[in-house]
Amino acid sequence: MRDFLIAGLSAGASGAPRWPRLIATSLIVVAILASVLVASLDTLPDLNLGWRSVFDFAAMGIAFFFALEYVARIALAPILAAQRPRARVRYLLSFLGFVDLVAIVPIITPALALGAGLRDETMLFAMAALFKLARYVTALPLIVAVMRQEARSLLAALLSLLVVLVFASAIMYFLERHAQPQVFASIPHALWWGIVTMGTVGYGDVVPMTGWGRLFGGIVILVGVALFAVPAGILATGFASEIRKRDFIVTWQAVARVPLFADLDASRIAAIARLLKPQFVPGQQAIIRRGEPADAMFFIMEGEVEVDIKPNPVHLGPGQFFGEIALITEGRRSATVTAIEETRLLALDVVDFKRLMKEHPDLEAAIRRVAEERLQQRG
Ligand code: CMP
Repeated sequence: MRDFLIAGLSAGASGAPRWPRLIATSLIVVAILASVLVASLDTLPDLNLGWRSVFDFAAMGIAFFFALEYVARIALAPILAAQRPRARVRYLLSFLGFVDLVAIVPIITPALALGAGLRDETMLFAMAALFKLARYVTALPLIVAVMRQEARSLLAALLSLLVVLVFASAIMYFLERHAQPQVFASIPHALWWGIVTMGTVGYGDVVPMTGWGRLFGGIVILVGVALFAVPAGILATGFASEIRKRDFIVTWQAVARVPLFADLDASRIAAIARLLKPQFVPGQQAIIRRGEPADAMFFIMEGEVEVDIKPNPVHLGPGQFFGEIALITEGRRSATVTAIEETRLLALDVVDFKRLMKEHPDLEAAIRRVAEERLQQRG
């Protein structure tokens, strides 16, 4: 049960066994979607009382399920965070920890759920559950990574946009204030026109009436289109480079650079390259956790990982491998391994590992030697 929970709650962890992870992930994702669906349907004005109580009951059930998940995440935080210090406090203070808490508000404050009914504030809390999806939608961390990477250029683009917006709104205020004193009553009033125009939305609720106002409005629209394209361009290139970084392909040359395979002939290296699966791990993310069942071993192509062993953690870099001990002993992971920086790995799953070891006794001997040395070092 504990293993199932660890595997299930460690959504993105590559080392966690597949089936528990899939089952627990599916359960949580279905609960999130149900929570949002129920909260949305509950706002329908002509819903009859029967359905309303069904939805209220379902929302409570879902919130209860989220409460169990929350307790499990707190209890297992040290394992899920790869034994990082103060893991529980970190989780409780993290954005996702806050979202997990908000999602269970309907049961920790029964007055909200049962008294006022779902239709009001509780509905918003249920909607907040949508943010829990951040753990499971791999594209969301990608968006955050791109935003972080391009933060400086995005900020510069947004600042220019802001300067032009304020300047254009101020000019429009002076051009239109006599013709439409109510609509362009002040520069802050004119800012609404500026935002709607430069955003190329154009609700049409505030429009210039004077000739000069319209001429200037036309120019602002064109400038707005050009300025809005800049952040879009920055994001597009950011996404392209981030995706290229993550979806690298396993080349013959990459496999040949691994010292363990360097002495093999070309056709064998090509055969091994077909078995290895590329894997990108962002910095500070656990790749395998101590005590977990094992399903693969990993070769480091780029980056650095830390093996959390006492008293001094060991760092491994390009060309080195890890995760072999549990495959050889057919036991559990002997240590937690975390990517220190963005790391590219090649994963060899347990079935292919066994086949490879049978076909290449020399490789098996070399891997066993390293595993034994590592075990001896740890006493
Ligand atoms: P495994 O037990 O499958 O998972 C944890 C991995 O950490 C382990 O395999 C080794 O690959 C690696 N490891 C354990 N001890 C050491 C060590 N002393 N030096 C380097 N790597 C180690």
